[in-house]
Amino acid sequence: MADDTLAKSFQNIGADYDRYRPGFPDAAADAIIPVPVDTALDLGAGTGKFTERLIRRASRVIGVEPSAQMLAVLRDKLPGVDARIGSAESIPVADASVDVVTVAQAFHWFDREPACAEIRRVLVPGGVLGLLWNHSDAGCAWDRACTRVAHPGLGDGLTASADVVELLPGFAEPRFVQIPWRERIRRGDYLARWLTVSSFLAASAVDRARMVGKIEDILDADPETAGREEFELPQVTDVYVYRAA
Ligand SMILES: C[S@@+](CC[C@H](N)C(=O)[O-])C[C@H]1O[C@@H](n2cnc3c(N)ncnc32)[C@H](O)[C@@H]1O
Repeated sequence: MADDTLAKSFQNIGADYDRYRPGFPDAAADAIIPVPVDTALDLGAGTGKFTERLIRRASRVIGVEPSAQMLAVLRDKLPGVDARIGSAESIPVADASVDVVTVAQAFHWFDREPACAEIRRVLVPGGVLGLLWNHSDAGCAWDRACTRVAHPGLGDGLTASADVVELLPGFAEPRFVQIPWRERIRRGDYLARWLTVSSFLAASAVDRARMVGKIEDILDADPETAGREEFELPQVTDVYVYRAA
C-alpha cells in the first residue's frame, strides 16, 4: 500500500498545486481517448489539471478526489465537471456507468487491489483505463538531479519502458505510449513547483529548506540554468492504456 502520510500530503494545498504543477499534452489524452466517449471519470483528479483535457473528449466528465481543497479549485476552474469527493478504493459512481477512467499522477497512491476492483466496477464492459505520469527527461541532467533530491530512493528507476508495463488485476491489452514535450519555466516557478511535491510537503521545515537549498545549488551549477531567470524544461508524459478484461 502507498505511504499514507505522503498520499495525504495533498489535503492542504490547492491553488499552489494548480499554479505551479505542469499540465499534460493533448497527445496524452488522445492516446487514451482517440474518439469522443459518453462518460469519462478522472480519478485522483486534484485541481483538474488532466480533467480539463477530458472536456472535449467526453459528453459528461466526472472528477473524483479525496481532498476538498483540491476539489474546490477544480470546481472553480471547471464548473461543467461533476466533481465528487471520493477515493479510488470507494468511487462514488454507479456500476458500469463510465466509458473511460483516467488517473494522472495518482495511481501510485492507491491501494492497488481494491482500487482496480472499483475501477472495473464503474467501467462499462471493455471500458478503458488510462494511467499517466509526467517525469523528467533522461537527457536533462539538472532536472534529473533535482528529481533525485525529491525522490532519493528512485536511483535509476526514473525511466519507464514498454518492456516493463505492469499487468493489473482485471485488465488486459496494456499499451504504453511516451510523449516528450517542453515548457519554458521561470526559476522561481520551478522552485515553487518542487514545494508542491509530496516529499517536500511532508518534510519538516528544516528538511524542506535543506532540499530547496540542494535544488538551488544544482541550478546554480548547471550551465543550462546557472544565472538564468527562465529556462527550457524538457519533460516526458508516460501513458499506460488498459482495457477492462
Ligand atoms: C500528484 S496529485 C495529482 C492530481 C491530478 N491528477 C494532477 O495530475 O494534477 C495526486 C492526487 O491523488 C489524490 N489521492 C491520493 N490518494 C488517493 C486515493 N486513495 N484515491 C483517490 N485519489 C487519491 C491526492 O489527493 C492528489 O490530489
